[in-house]
Amino acid sequence: QRLAILLSGRGSNMVALVKAVQHGILQGVAEVAVVFSNKPDAPGLETAAAMGCPTASLSSEGRKRAEFDAEVVEVLRQYQPDYVVLAGYMRILSPTFVRAFAGRILNIHPADTRQHQGLHAYEWAFENQLPETKITVHLVDEGLDTGPILAQHPVDLHGADTLEEVERRGLAVEHRVYAETLAELIKKDRHAELVEASRVASSE
Ligand code: GRF
Repeated sequence: QRLAILLSGRGSNMVALVKAVQHGILQGVAEVAVVFSNKPDAPGLETAAAMGCPTASLSSEGRKRAEFDAEVVEVLRQYQPDYVVLAGYMRILSPTFVRAFAGRILNIHPADTRQHQGLHAYEWAFENQLPETKITVHLVDEGLDTGPILAQHPVDLHGADTLEEVERRGLAVEHRVYAETLAELIKKDRHAELVEASRVASSE
């Protein structure tokens, strides 16, 4: 299955995904079709290229969302992705984009999306002194962090007394669960396709 990984910044989740594809849980299951950024100078793009991934970018600066997203869809389609995996992609997707890859766009959010949406989720957990936060992997719909939840994993925050420590613990969980959740989803989608194929075959 072909992955388009989208990022805007440092790309530590992208690195974890690429490692999983190259010699981990996604090996033989998925390949990286492209790593795309809306910021041509995102550090993550350079890292991706150094890891041997095809990369592409289009600057979103000063662009209208719908128009820009239509161009991004065009670019991504050239790489024929089966899944679009958001990894720190700091843009809200327009309905055109969401519909173009309906049910095939994943996001990772560093909180329970039912409790906290949008930016600064680790700050929120830290400032509220939460004993635990949850990493959420979800499908993307047209809202902000509202799509169906695929998996949630707790992060123990006891004794995490700086924001850096909260982030360090959270990111360690993010890096593990994103690839795991994707591997499970691919397995389920494949199973659903097989069931459908045998249903069609037996009705012929
Ligand atoms: C991660 O915390 C992710 O959950 C959120 O944005 C951050 C991206 O970090 N959506 P990185 O670029 O993957 O290091």
